[in-house]
Amino acid sequence: MQRQKTQEIYHELSKVIPGGVNSPVRACLSVHSLPLVIERAEKDMLYDVDGHEYIDFCGSWGALIHGHAHPLILDAAERRMRKGTSFGISTAIEAALAKKITSILPSIQKIRFVSSGTEATMSAARLARGYTSRSLVVKFSGNYHGHADHFLVQAGSGVLSLSPTSSSKGIPDEMVKHTLSLPYNDEQAIREAFNAYGDQIACVILEPIAGNMGVIPATERFITLLRELTHHCGALLIFDEVITGFRVSLQGAQALYSVQPDLTCLGKIIGGGFPAAAFGGKEEIMNFLAPLGPVYQAGTLSGNPVAMEAGLQAITLAEKAGFYDELQAKTGEFLSPIKEKMATLKTPACIQSVGSMFTIFFGVKEVRNLEDTKKLDQEIFAQFFKFLLEHGVYIPPLQCEAWFISKVHSKENLLKARKYILQFLDRLM
Ligand SMILES: Cc1ncc(COP(=O)(O)O)c(C=O)c1O
Repeated sequence: MQRQKTQEIYHELSKVIPGGVNSPVRACLSVHSLPLVIERAEKDMLYDVDGHEYIDFCGSWGALIHGHAHPLILDAAERRMRKGTSFGISTAIEAALAKKITSILPSIQKIRFVSSGTEATMSAARLARGYTSRSLVVKFSGNYHGHADHFLVQAGSGVLSLSPTSSSKGIPDEMVKHTLSLPYNDEQAIREAFNAYGDQIACVILEPIAGNMGVIPATERFITLLRELTHHCGALLIFDEVITGFRVSLQGAQALYSVQPDLTCLGKIIGGGFPAAAFGGKEEIMNFLAPLGPVYQAGTLSGNPVAMEAGLQAITLAEKAGFYDELQAKTGEFLSPIKEKMATLKTPACIQSVGSMFTIFFGVKEVRNLEDTKKLDQEIFAQFFKFLLEHGVYIPPLQCEAWFISKVHSKENLLKARKYILQFLDRLM
Protein backbone atom coordinates (compact mmCIF):
# COMPACT_ATOMS: atom_id res chain seq x y z
CA MET A 1 0.00 0.00 0.00
CA GLN A 2 1.45 3.36 -1.06
CA ARG A 3 1.11 6.09 1.56
CA GLN A 4 3.20 8.82 -0.01
CA LYS A 5 1.24 11.80 1.28
CA THR A 6 1.02 10.26 4.75
CA GLN A 7 4.80 9.91 4.74
CA GLU A 8 5.28 13.54 3.72
CA ILE A 9 2.86 14.90 6.32
CA TYR A 10 4.27 12.67 9.03
CA HIS A 11 7.73 13.95 8.15
CA GLU A 12 6.48 17.53 8.63
CA LEU A 13 4.69 16.59 11.86
CA SER A 14 7.87 15.05 13.21
CA LYS A 15 9.82 18.27 12.66
CA VAL A 16 7.60 20.21 15.05
CA ILE A 17 5.86 17.68 17.29
CA PRO A 18 7.84 15.11 19.33
CA GLY A 19 7.53 11.79 17.54
CA GLY A 20 5.11 13.47 15.14
CA VAL A 21 2.18 12.77 17.45
CA ASN A 22 0.24 14.40 20.24
CA SER A 23 -0.35 11.11 22.03
CA PRO A 24 2.33 8.39 21.91
CA VAL A 25 0.33 5.33 20.78
CA ARG A 26 -0.54 7.12 17.54
CA ALA A 27 3.10 6.76 16.45
CA CYS A 28 2.46 3.01 15.84
CA LEU A 29 5.94 2.17 17.17
CA SER A 30 5.12 -1.21 18.63
CA VAL A 31 3.66 -2.41 15.31
CA HIS A 32 6.61 -0.96 13.34
CA SER A 33 4.24 0.85 11.01
CA LEU A 34 4.01 4.29 9.47
CA PRO A 35 1.35 6.15 11.51
CA LEU A 36 -1.93 7.06 9.88
CA VAL A 37 -2.78 10.58 8.87
CA ILE A 38 -6.53 10.98 8.59
CA GLU A 39 -8.38 13.30 6.25
CA ARG A 40 -11.97 12.60 7.31
CA ALA A 41 -14.26 9.95 8.73
CA GLU A 42 -17.88 8.91 8.48
CA LYS A 43 -19.88 6.22 10.29
CA ASP A 44 -17.54 3.21 10.69
CA MET A 45 -14.97 4.38 8.11
CA LEU A 46 -11.74 6.37 8.26
CA TYR A 47 -10.29 7.98 5.14
CA ASP A 48 -6.59 8.85 5.09
CA VAL A 49 -4.79 11.61 3.22
CA ASP A 50 -3.73 9.16 0.49
CA GLY A 51 -7.31 8.22 -0.30
CA HIS A 52 -7.24 4.82 1.44
CA GLU A 53 -10.25 3.79 3.47
CA TYR A 54 -10.31 1.72 6.63
CA ILE A 55 -13.03 0.09 8.68
CA ASP A 56 -12.41 1.60 12.10
CA PHE A 57 -12.32 -0.59 15.22
CA CYS A 58 -10.78 2.08 17.41
CA GLY A 59 -13.53 4.72 17.30
CA SER A 60 -11.34 7.45 18.77
CA TRP A 61 -10.35 5.05 21.56
CA GLY A 62 -13.92 4.24 22.45
CA ALA A 63 -15.41 7.72 22.36
CA LEU A 64 -17.50 7.15 19.23
CA ILE A 65 -20.18 4.68 20.18
CA HIS A 66 -22.38 6.24 17.47
CA GLY A 67 -19.61 6.22 14.87
CA HIS A 68 -17.95 9.16 13.13
CA ALA A 69 -19.74 12.36 12.24
CA HIS A 70 -23.16 11.28 13.48
CA PRO A 71 -25.57 13.79 11.90
CA LEU A 72 -27.58 14.43 15.08
CA ILE A 73 -24.44 15.02 17.15
CA LEU A 74 -23.00 17.28 14.47
CA ASP A 75 -26.26 19.26 14.24
CA ALA A 76 -26.44 19.71 17.99
CA ALA A 77 -22.81 20.85 18.18
CA GLU A 78 -23.17 23.15 15.19
CA ARG A 79 -26.32 24.82 16.55
CA ARG A 80 -24.52 25.44 19.79
CA MET A 81 -21.33 26.69 18.09
CA ARG A 82 -23.29 29.37 16.31
CA LYS A 83 -24.17 30.83 19.70
CA GLY A 84 -20.50 31.04 20.66
CA THR A 85 -18.01 28.34 21.48
CA SER A 86 -16.71 29.16 24.94
CA PHE A 87 -17.54 31.72 27.58
CA GLY A 88 -15.81 30.59 30.75
CA ILE A 89 -19.22 31.34 32.29
CA SER A 90 -22.03 28.94 33.19
CA THR A 91 -24.58 27.76 30.63
CA ALA A 92 -27.86 25.83 30.96
CA ILE A 93 -26.55 22.98 28.84
CA GLU A 94 -24.16 22.01 31.66
CA ALA A 95 -27.18 21.48 33.94
CA ALA A 96 -28.93 19.48 31.22
CA LEU A 97 -26.01 17.06 30.78
CA ALA A 98 -25.39 16.87 34.55
CA LYS A 99 -29.06 16.03 35.15
CA LYS A 100 -29.04 13.47 32.38
CA ILE A 101 -25.99 11.68 33.83
CA THR A 102 -27.12 11.86 37.46
CA SER A 103 -30.54 10.52 36.49
CA ILE A 104 -28.92 7.52 34.78
CA LEU A 105 -26.17 6.72 37.31
CA PRO A 106 -27.55 6.47 40.85
CA SER A 107 -24.05 6.58 42.38
CA ILE A 108 -23.56 10.11 41.02
CA GLN A 109 -25.48 12.75 42.94
CA LYS A 110 -23.27 15.62 41.87
CA ILE A 111 -20.86 15.89 38.98
CA ARG A 112 -18.07 18.21 37.84
CA PHE A 113 -17.16 18.46 34.15
CA VAL A 114 -13.57 18.66 32.93
CA SER A 115 -11.97 18.34 29.50
CA SER A 116 -10.11 15.00 29.60
CA GLY A 117 -10.08 11.67 31.38
CA THR A 118 -6.70 12.58 32.83
CA GLU A 119 -8.21 15.62 34.50
CA ALA A 120 -11.15 13.58 35.78
CA THR A 121 -9.05 10.91 37.52
CA MET A 122 -6.47 13.40 38.76
CA SER A 123 -9.19 15.57 40.28
CA ALA A 124 -11.06 12.61 41.75
CA ALA A 125 -7.89 11.42 43.51
CA ARG A 126 -7.24 14.91 44.86
CA LEU A 127 -10.80 15.10 46.09
CA ALA A 128 -10.44 11.71 47.76
CA ARG A 129 -7.25 12.84 49.47
CA GLY A 130 -8.84 16.10 50.57
CA TYR A 131 -11.98 14.41 51.82
CA THR A 132 -10.20 11.68 53.78
CA SER A 133 -7.16 13.76 54.82
CA ARG A 134 -5.01 10.80 53.73
CA SER A 135 -2.35 10.53 51.03
CA LEU A 136 -2.08 6.99 49.76
CA VAL A 137 -3.65 6.15 46.40
CA VAL A 138 -4.06 2.46 45.60
CA LYS A 139 -4.22 1.52 41.93
CA PHE A 140 -3.74 -1.64 39.93
CA SER A 141 -0.85 -2.48 37.65
CA GLY A 142 -1.80 -2.24 33.99
CA ASN A 143 -4.79 0.01 34.64
CA TYR A 144 -4.45 3.38 32.96
CA HIS A 145 -5.94 6.50 34.50
CA GLY A 146 -4.40 9.15 32.27
CA HIS A 147 -1.00 10.67 32.77
CA ALA A 148 -1.11 12.52 36.10
CA ASP A 149 2.08 11.87 38.08
CA HIS A 150 0.65 9.62 40.75
CA PHE A 151 -0.96 7.27 38.23
CA LEU A 152 2.13 6.62 36.11
CA VAL A 153 3.25 3.82 38.34
CA GLN A 154 2.88 0.47 36.58
CA ALA A 155 0.36 2.01 34.20
CA GLY A 156 -1.22 0.44 31.13
CA SER A 157 -2.03 1.64 27.59
CA GLY A 158 0.76 3.45 25.69
CA VAL A 159 2.92 3.52 28.80
CA LEU A 160 3.17 -0.26 28.63
CA SER A 161 4.78 -0.15 25.21
CA LEU A 162 7.26 2.59 26.04
CA SER A 163 8.79 1.51 29.30
CA PRO A 164 9.46 -1.93 30.73
CA THR A 165 8.74 -0.62 34.22
CA SER A 166 5.53 1.05 33.03
CA SER A 167 6.50 4.31 34.60
CA SER A 168 7.81 7.64 33.40
CA LYS A 169 10.82 9.86 33.94
CA GLY A 170 10.03 13.22 35.43
CA ILE A 171 8.04 11.91 38.36
CA PRO A 172 9.70 12.57 41.72
CA ASP A 173 10.11 9.60 44.05
CA GLU A 174 8.16 11.63 46.60
CA MET A 175 5.10 11.35 44.33
CA VAL A 176 5.53 7.65 43.62
CA LYS A 177 5.74 6.76 47.28
CA HIS A 178 2.16 7.91 47.73
CA THR A 179 0.95 5.42 45.13
CA LEU A 180 0.62 1.73 45.76
CA SER A 181 0.26 -0.29 42.56
CA LEU A 182 -1.06 -3.79 43.16
CA PRO A 183 -1.76 -6.75 40.86
CA TYR A 184 -5.24 -6.62 39.34
CA ASN A 185 -7.74 -9.24 40.42
CA ASP A 186 -5.48 -10.30 43.30
CA GLU A 187 -7.55 -10.58 46.47
CA GLN A 188 -4.65 -11.47 48.72
CA ALA A 189 -2.54 -8.49 47.65
CA ILE A 190 -5.35 -6.02 48.36
CA ARG A 191 -6.13 -7.62 51.72
CA GLU A 192 -2.47 -7.36 52.70
CA ALA A 193 -2.33 -3.72 51.58
CA PHE A 194 -5.35 -2.85 53.68
CA ASN A 195 -3.95 -4.74 56.67
CA ALA A 196 -0.69 -2.80 56.40
CA TYR A 197 -1.88 0.66 55.36
CA GLY A 198 -5.67 0.70 55.83
CA ASP A 199 -5.72 3.95 57.81
CA GLN A 200 -3.50 5.75 55.26
CA ILE A 201 -5.41 4.87 52.11
CA ALA A 202 -7.34 7.79 50.64
CA CYS A 203 -8.77 5.86 47.73
CA VAL A 204 -8.67 2.77 45.62
CA ILE A 205 -9.04 3.56 41.93
CA LEU A 206 -9.55 0.98 39.22
CA GLU A 207 -10.89 0.27 35.79
CA PRO A 208 -13.65 -2.17 36.80
CA ILE A 209 -13.27 -3.66 33.35
CA ALA A 210 -9.70 -2.95 32.33
CA GLY A 211 -9.34 -1.74 28.77
CA ASN A 212 -5.75 -0.56 28.87
CA MET A 213 -3.98 -3.90 29.15
CA GLY A 214 -6.49 -5.27 26.71
CA VAL A 215 -9.99 -6.08 27.91
CA ILE A 216 -9.78 -7.78 31.30
CA PRO A 217 -12.85 -7.69 33.51
CA ALA A 218 -12.32 -7.63 37.25
CA THR A 219 -13.85 -10.62 38.97
CA GLU A 220 -17.03 -9.97 40.93
CA ARG A 221 -15.32 -11.17 44.10
CA PHE A 222 -12.50 -8.69 43.60
CA ILE A 223 -14.86 -5.73 43.13
CA THR A 224 -17.02 -6.78 46.07
CA LEU A 225 -13.92 -7.11 48.24
CA LEU A 226 -12.72 -3.65 47.22
CA ARG A 227 -16.10 -2.20 48.16
CA GLU A 228 -16.03 -3.92 51.55
CA LEU A 229 -12.43 -3.01 52.40
CA THR A 230 -12.71 0.65 51.37
CA HIS A 231 -15.98 1.02 53.24
CA HIS A 232 -14.53 -0.61 56.35
CA CYS A 233 -11.34 1.53 56.34
CA GLY A 234 -12.90 4.87 55.41
CA ALA A 235 -11.21 5.02 51.99
CA LEU A 236 -13.07 6.02 48.84
CA LEU A 237 -13.67 3.60 45.99
CA ILE A 238 -13.22 5.28 42.61
CA PHE A 239 -14.35 3.60 39.43
CA ASP A 240 -12.52 4.87 36.40
CA GLU A 241 -15.26 4.42 33.83
CA VAL A 242 -13.68 6.69 31.23
CA ILE A 243 -13.92 3.78 28.78
CA THR A 244 -16.70 1.65 30.27
CA GLY A 245 -19.11 4.47 31.12
CA PHE A 246 -22.00 4.41 28.62
CA ARG A 247 -20.06 1.66 26.78
CA VAL A 248 -20.67 -1.67 28.51
CA SER A 249 -24.20 -0.66 29.50
CA LEU A 250 -26.10 2.59 29.88
CA GLN A 251 -25.04 2.66 33.52
CA GLY A 252 -21.54 1.42 32.83
CA ALA A 253 -19.61 -1.29 34.62
CA GLN A 254 -21.06 -0.38 38.01
CA ALA A 255 -24.44 -1.68 36.88
CA LEU A 256 -22.92 -4.94 35.65
CA TYR A 257 -21.27 -5.52 39.03
CA SER A 258 -24.15 -4.00 41.05
CA VAL A 259 -21.63 -2.02 43.07
CA GLN A 260 -21.83 1.69 43.79
CA PRO A 261 -18.47 3.44 43.92
CA ASP A 262 -18.04 6.63 45.95
CA LEU A 263 -16.72 8.47 42.89
CA THR A 264 -16.91 7.70 39.18
CA CYS A 265 -14.72 9.12 36.41
CA LEU A 266 -16.27 9.46 32.97
CA GLY A 267 -14.90 10.61 29.61
CA LYS A 268 -14.89 9.58 25.96
CA ILE A 269 -18.58 8.87 25.17
CA ILE A 270 -19.89 11.70 27.36
CA GLY A 271 -18.23 14.22 25.04
CA GLY A 272 -19.80 12.79 21.87
CA GLY A 273 -16.39 13.09 20.16
CA PHE A 274 -15.53 16.46 21.71
CA PRO A 275 -13.20 16.99 24.67
CA ALA A 276 -15.36 16.44 27.74
CA ALA A 277 -14.98 14.27 30.80
CA ALA A 278 -16.30 14.34 34.34
CA PHE A 279 -16.06 12.98 37.83
CA GLY A 280 -18.94 12.67 40.22
CA GLY A 281 -20.34 10.84 43.19
CA LYS A 282 -21.88 11.29 46.58
CA GLU A 283 -23.03 14.83 47.25
CA GLU A 284 -21.26 15.03 50.59
CA ILE A 285 -17.94 14.20 48.92
CA MET A 286 -18.47 16.38 45.85
CA ASN A 287 -19.31 19.37 48.09
CA PHE A 288 -15.69 19.25 49.25
CA LEU A 289 -14.79 20.84 45.90
CA ALA A 290 -14.17 24.58 45.56
CA PRO A 291 -16.04 26.90 45.72
CA LEU A 292 -18.05 25.03 48.39
CA GLY A 293 -15.14 23.15 49.92
CA PRO A 294 -11.38 23.20 50.38
CA VAL A 295 -10.31 21.03 47.40
CA TYR A 296 -9.36 23.20 44.45
CA GLN A 297 -10.17 22.16 40.91
CA ALA A 298 -10.89 24.32 37.87
CA GLY A 299 -10.72 24.61 34.06
CA THR A 300 -11.05 27.30 31.39
CA LEU A 301 -12.86 24.95 29.02
CA SER A 302 -14.58 22.81 31.67
CA GLY A 303 -18.22 22.22 30.77
CA ASN A 304 -17.60 23.62 27.31
CA PRO A 305 -21.06 24.18 25.79
CA VAL A 306 -20.28 22.58 22.42
CA ALA A 307 -18.91 19.43 24.07
CA MET A 308 -21.86 19.36 26.51
CA GLU A 309 -24.35 19.55 23.65
CA ALA A 310 -22.59 16.77 21.72
CA GLY A 311 -22.39 14.63 24.86
CA LEU A 312 -26.06 15.14 25.66
CA GLN A 313 -27.02 14.05 22.18
CA ALA A 314 -24.71 11.01 22.37
CA ILE A 315 -26.23 9.88 25.65
CA THR A 316 -29.79 10.55 24.45
CA LEU A 317 -29.13 8.30 21.45
CA ALA A 318 -27.69 5.58 23.71
CA GLU A 319 -30.77 5.68 25.95
CA LYS A 320 -33.01 4.32 23.18
CA ALA A 321 -34.55 0.97 24.13
CA GLY A 322 -32.48 -1.99 22.98
CA PHE A 323 -29.39 0.08 22.14
CA TYR A 324 -26.94 -1.93 24.24
CA ASP A 325 -28.57 -5.30 23.56
CA GLU A 326 -28.24 -4.70 19.85
CA LEU A 327 -24.63 -3.59 20.16
CA GLN A 328 -23.73 -6.60 22.25
CA ALA A 329 -25.50 -9.00 19.88
CA LYS A 330 -23.73 -7.45 16.89
CA THR A 331 -20.35 -7.81 18.63
CA GLY A 332 -21.07 -11.39 19.69
CA GLU A 333 -22.05 -12.35 16.16
CA PHE A 334 -18.90 -10.74 14.78
CA LEU A 335 -16.60 -12.51 17.23
CA SER A 336 -18.16 -15.95 17.32
CA PRO A 337 -16.50 -17.48 14.18
CA ILE A 338 -13.19 -15.86 15.17
CA LYS A 339 -13.36 -17.54 18.58
CA GLU A 340 -14.18 -20.86 16.92
CA LYS A 341 -11.19 -20.61 14.63
CA MET A 342 -8.91 -19.62 17.49
CA ALA A 343 -9.73 -22.84 19.28
CA THR A 344 -8.16 -24.76 16.37
CA LEU A 345 -4.89 -22.80 16.07
CA LYS A 346 -1.42 -24.12 16.82
CA THR A 347 -0.48 -20.72 18.27
CA PRO A 348 -2.46 -19.89 21.41
CA ALA A 349 -4.81 -16.92 21.04
CA CYS A 350 -7.96 -15.67 22.73
CA ILE A 351 -10.61 -12.98 22.69
CA GLN A 352 -11.79 -11.24 25.83
CA SER A 353 -14.88 -9.07 25.54
CA VAL A 354 -17.54 -7.22 27.49
CA GLY A 355 -20.42 -5.75 25.50
CA SER A 356 -19.01 -3.97 22.47
CA MET A 357 -15.39 -3.77 23.69
CA PHE A 358 -12.95 -6.61 23.16
CA THR A 359 -9.33 -7.54 22.60
CA ILE A 360 -7.75 -10.23 20.45
CA PHE A 361 -4.67 -11.57 22.25
CA PHE A 362 -1.93 -13.67 20.66
CA GLY A 363 0.36 -16.07 22.50
CA VAL A 364 -1.91 -16.82 25.48
CA LYS A 365 -5.19 -18.55 26.26
CA GLU A 366 -6.26 -16.11 28.96
CA VAL A 367 -5.19 -12.72 30.32
CA ARG A 368 -6.08 -11.87 33.92
CA ASN A 369 -3.56 -9.18 34.82
CA LEU A 370 -0.46 -7.27 33.76
CA GLU A 371 1.79 -10.27 34.43
CA ASP A 372 -0.11 -12.30 31.83
CA THR A 373 0.35 -9.56 29.21
CA LYS A 374 4.11 -10.09 29.38
CA LYS A 375 3.58 -13.47 27.70
CA LEU A 376 1.82 -11.95 24.67
CA ASP A 377 3.29 -12.47 21.23
CA GLN A 378 3.92 -8.91 20.06
CA GLU A 379 5.49 -9.97 16.78
CA ILE A 380 2.39 -11.81 15.58
CA PHE A 381 0.31 -8.81 16.64
CA ALA A 382 2.51 -6.44 14.61
CA GLN A 383 2.01 -8.67 11.55
CA PHE A 384 -1.71 -8.85 12.26
CA PHE A 385 -1.98 -5.05 12.49
CA LYS A 386 -0.12 -4.56 9.20
CA PHE A 387 -2.09 -7.28 7.42
CA LEU A 388 -5.39 -5.73 8.46
CA LEU A 389 -4.26 -2.21 7.60
CA GLU A 390 -3.22 -3.36 4.13
CA HIS A 391 -6.73 -4.76 3.70
CA GLY A 392 -8.47 -1.62 4.88
CA VAL A 393 -9.11 -2.50 8.52
CA TYR A 394 -7.81 -0.24 11.27
CA ILE A 395 -7.42 -1.64 14.78
CA PRO A 396 -5.70 -0.08 17.82
CA PRO A 397 -1.94 -0.15 17.08
CA LEU A 398 -1.17 -1.84 20.38
CA GLN A 399 -2.17 -5.34 21.44
CA CYS A 400 -2.99 -4.25 25.00
CA GLU A 401 -5.87 -2.01 23.99
CA ALA A 402 -9.58 -2.45 23.47
CA TRP A 403 -11.28 -2.60 20.10
CA PHE A 404 -14.72 -1.02 19.85
CA ILE A 405 -17.80 -1.69 17.77
CA SER A 406 -20.21 1.18 17.27
CA LYS A 407 -23.90 1.37 16.56
CA VAL A 408 -23.15 2.19 12.93
CA HIS A 409 -20.74 -0.62 12.08
CA SER A 410 -22.48 -2.09 9.06
CA LYS A 411 -23.03 -5.78 8.58
CA GLU A 412 -21.16 -5.59 5.30
CA ASN A 413 -18.08 -4.00 6.89
CA LEU A 414 -18.09 -6.41 9.81
CA LEU A 415 -18.21 -9.35 7.42
CA LYS A 416 -15.39 -7.87 5.39
CA ALA A 417 -13.19 -7.20 8.41
CA ARG A 418 -13.89 -10.66 9.80
CA LYS A 419 -12.94 -12.27 6.51
CA TYR A 420 -9.46 -10.73 6.76
CA ILE A 421 -9.09 -11.59 10.45
CA LEU A 422 -9.91 -15.22 9.66
CA GLN A 423 -7.52 -15.17 6.72
CA PHE A 424 -4.73 -14.02 9.00
CA LEU A 425 -5.58 -16.69 11.57
CA ASP A 426 -5.30 -19.32 8.81
CA ARG A 427 -1.59 -18.53 8.74
CA LEU A 428 -1.35 -19.64 12.37
CA MET A 429 -2.96 -23.06 11.79
C1 LIG B 1 -9.68 4.20 31.74
C2 LIG B 1 -9.07 5.51 31.33
N1 LIG B 1 -8.94 6.49 32.22
C3 LIG B 1 -8.43 7.67 31.90
C4 LIG B 1 -7.99 7.92 30.63
C5 LIG B 1 -7.41 9.26 30.28
O1 LIG B 1 -8.29 9.93 29.45
P1 LIG B 1 -7.76 11.09 28.47
O2 LIG B 1 -6.96 10.40 27.42
O3 LIG B 1 -9.02 11.71 27.97
O4 LIG B 1 -6.96 12.00 29.29
C6 LIG B 1 -8.09 6.94 29.65
C7 LIG B 1 -7.63 7.17 28.28
O5 LIG B 1 -7.68 6.35 27.43
C8 LIG B 1 -8.64 5.70 30.01
O6 LIG B 1 -8.75 4.70 29.12
